[in-house]
Amino acid sequence: MTWFMVAVVVVVAAAGLLRWRRPAWYWLTFGVVLATVRVLVRYASVMDACGLTVPPSRWRLALARVANRPVPESRVPRILRLRPTRTGLVLRLKLRPGQDAFDVAAATDRLRHSFGMYGVTSREVRSGVVEVRMTGYDVLKQVQMPTKTDTRPMRVPVALREDGSVHYRDYRAVPHGLTLGATESGKSVYQRNLVAGLAPMDVALVGIDCKQGVELFPLARRFSALADNPDTALELLEALVSHMEEVYLLIRAEQRVSVAVPDAEIAADIWDLPDDIRPVPVVVLVDEVAELALFASKEEEKRRDRIITALVRLAQLGRAAGIYLEICGQRFGSELGKGITMLRAQLTGRTAHRVNDETSANMAFGDISPDAVLAAIQIPAETRGIAIAGDSTGGWHRIRAPHTSLRQAVNTCTKYADRTPDVPALAAYRPAAGPLPSARVPLSKTAPATA
Ligand SMILES: Nc1ncnc2c1ncn2[C@@H]1O[C@H](COP(=O)(O)OP(=O)(O)O)[C@@H](O)[C@H]1O
Ligand SMILES: [Mg+2]
Repeated sequence: MTWFMVAVVVVVAAAGLLRWRRPAWYWLTFGVVLATVRVLVRYASVMDACGLTVPPSRWRLALARVANRPVPESRVPRILRLRPTRTGLVLRLKLRPGQDAFDVAAATDRLRHSFGMYGVTSREVRSGVVEVRMTGYDVLKQVQMPTKTDTRPMRVPVALREDGSVHYRDYRAVPHGLTLGATESGKSVYQRNLVAGLAPMDVALVGIDCKQGVELFPLARRFSALADNPDTALELLEALVSHMEEVYLLIRAEQRVSVAVPDAEIAADIWDLPDDIRPVPVVVLVDEVAELALFASKEEEKRRDRIITALVRLAQLGRAAGIYLEICGQRFGSELGKGITMLRAQLTGRTAHRVNDETSANMAFGDISPDAVLAAIQIPAETRGIAIAGDSTGGWHRIRAPHTSLRQAVNTCTKYADRTPDVPALAAYRPAAGPLPSARVPLSKTAPATA
């Protein structure tokens, strides 16, 4: 008996310790079982307390009266499935007549503490079926990406969402992206994760980093072209525009549309071309975009106008040629001059890290969703890396990218350095294959060999 008591105490202490230090492990060992039991046992009473029941139907009442039975109870939504996941539970409910998905969405906060979970979100799967996703602990506190993610060409698992699912940056669905955030809010770490995710894919990376190249130049081995000042950036962007024109000529040449060609085979973008002649897609990463849009003299103003024009052209026409823009900045509004709002309108994929004021948040989400603006302002300063990201359906999520250090990203880029494609139009901006950047080697040694 005493041994039994000792064993119980040890298990409880271990569970408590895990829960405190390693919530993810706690969830996989004890949490998931306890939570499943708790949800199943409390289900009916919680639904009742949260107002998610419907009164018995007329015919059941009539039947009870005829059979002289007690009045039947209110009915709760039927559980279609309860699935444990790595971070929580997923509950699928069939709603009763008269209920709607908004009832469940409005009750999520009540469900959260009634079931003793960390977070609860809900969405409608199809008419009458609602999926309630619950997380057992704060998954964004220490982001661990699942080892198996659904990777497809040009689709990068870049961050974790609040409900425990993976947030993808899918370039083919959402070609251009804009990432905003105050300084030190996690933009560059997010971008670094994108680079590390794109590195193993068949894609040419082009970087423009006017912060003297501190963020992107260490990753130079996987980049097909880099620029660290506005002058080089201008030449690089104009070279990209001419690359885009060449790709369109290629697509034109391949179309050869005649009556005999089936509709599905007419090439309209690079993905319709046969594999052997398809040009590599290009992702253009711009860090601190405001540096490209500011000017102090007449001369610089001319340069700025040309840069913005090139960016606008790439944003408007680039998608079908496989050129995708990923722009980062602290603010991106009309105060940066003409052409900026036009460019912003083309950048569909919005992500906002912590911002200091509402106008900055409005630059990301003002024209999309007012709740997302509010959520972006409310991101606490101490949890860097948390961001609000719009998704392709018009909704938004709180996300956080894993904390990839520069060293880890450098290692990934070095590992896949041999995948760096040569884009002939950009050859002049290809960074020289210098020694591996390390703390002691000055960064200038990896500066691009501009022609
Ligand atoms: N996803 C994250 N998880 C944990 N820490 C982060 C994350 N993103 C950023 N940080 C921390 O915030 C610091 C600043 O991030 P950084 O991306 O350089 O900001 P920005 O480019 O917006 O100025 C980083 O050095 C890192 O310590
Ligand atoms: Mg930065």
